[in-house]
Amino acid sequence: MQTAILSACFALHLLLGHCRGALEIQVPEVPVVAIFGEDVILNCSFTTDTNFSLFDLSVIWHLTETRKVVHSYSHQQDLQADQADSFANRTELFLEELGKGNASLLLRHVKIEDEGSFTCFVRIKDHMNAPIMLQLAASYSKPNLHLEPNKNLKPGDKVVITCHSSGGYPQATVQWHDGKGSNITENVTTSQVANEEGLFDVSSMIRVMLEPNSTYSCMVRNELLDEESQASATITGQHLQFPAVAVWLTIGLSVCLLGLLAALGFVCRRKIRQSCEESVAEDGEEEEAEARTVMKPLENAEDKEAEEDVLE
Ligand SMILES: *[C@@H]1O[C@H](CO)[C@@H](O)[C@H](O)[C@H]1NC(C)=O
Ligand SMILES: *[C@@H]1O[C@H](CO)[C@@H](O)[C@H](O)[C@H]1NC(C)=O
Ligand SMILES: *[C@@H]1O[C@H](CO)[C@@H](O)[C@H](O)[C@H]1NC(C)=O
Ligand SMILES: *[C@@H]1O[C@H](CO)[C@@H](O)[C@H](O)[C@H]1NC(C)=O
Ligand SMILES: *[C@@H]1O[C@H](CO)[C@@H](O)[C@H](O)[C@H]1NC(C)=O
Repeated sequence: MQTAILSACFALHLLLGHCRGALEIQVPEVPVVAIFGEDVILNCSFTTDTNFSLFDLSVIWHLTETRKVVHSYSHQQDLQADQADSFANRTELFLEELGKGNASLLLRHVKIEDEGSFTCFVRIKDHMNAPIMLQLAASYSKPNLHLEPNKNLKPGDKVVITCHSSGGYPQATVQWHDGKGSNITENVTTSQVANEEGLFDVSSMIRVMLEPNSTYSCMVRNELLDEESQASATITGQHLQFPAVAVWLTIGLSVCLLGLLAALGFVCRRKIRQSCEESVAEDGEEEEAEARTVMKPLENAEDKEAEEDVLE
């Protein structure tokens, strides 16, 4: 069998001018998207027509443009000396996969600077290489809104609303909408500033004349991740009830509910005491006692104290 393959190979070699060691290399054609701070695998696989020895294999991952070495492996060893400092301790080949023609690279804790083209180079006897694009992405924080001025606002006031969101990548698209959902992104100034890690902080400003019962919302969208989140400010009636409106409504409702529960609890407790007392006194069934309680006049204080002892 081996001989048959070899001679077939030999024939091909004559025909096509290559065969033994003819290397094919495969990498993803579309950019690989990695999340900032996480790990990513850059896939690269190779096929050879022959049964190769790992000792003859060299794999070098380098940056396509600068040729800086990302990871290099030869004679069954990783060669740390060649590696660019920025990749130190962050790369790994899957050693047990190499024999199967898998030269994929694990890159840890990806940074914004890692974005770009990587080349997978494989040599056995022949050599081949192929580039693979790495694209970085990071989610934007939920935006928050700030109004200037933000005190004693009333309809008719000219206000600057600023929308902030941070830590995303790549640059965001920011859109403003009014309460009806119409695009009001017209007179908006948006700036996107990269922080020291390369992530963007977005700041978008809109100047508006406050109208009663109107809403201004800012939507920050990361196209690459297909993510968006938004924040809104609502002006109701005479007063501006900026985010607080929901909070105060919740607090108000909670207080009402608590009051109601307390009242209910008090009534229930009294009822239970009454019914208990009755059931203790008459040694009757609870349901029956409860039914009667409704008609029963209030017990006096002494009875209640006695009752509590029975309960505890
Ligand atoms: C192919 O691999 C087998 C075992 O892995 C080895 O015994 C054999 O010699 C190899 N053949 C060639 C042509 O390298
Ligand atoms: C890589 O790890 C080694 C051993 O843990 C350590 O001495 C070295 O400082 C690390 N290098 C970098 C760049 O983190
Ligand atoms: C290569 O190995 C990596 C890590 O185990 C794996 O994720 C990848 O799918 C493998 N590629 C192929 C083509 O088998
Ligand atoms: C909203 O308006 C802005 C500026 O006029 C424009 O650039 C943007 O494409 C519009 N967005 C939509 C969804 O219409
Ligand atoms: C944008 O500004 C221009 C000039 O200041 C003004 O005429 C226009 O109405 C503004 N558009 C919006 C949507 O506020």
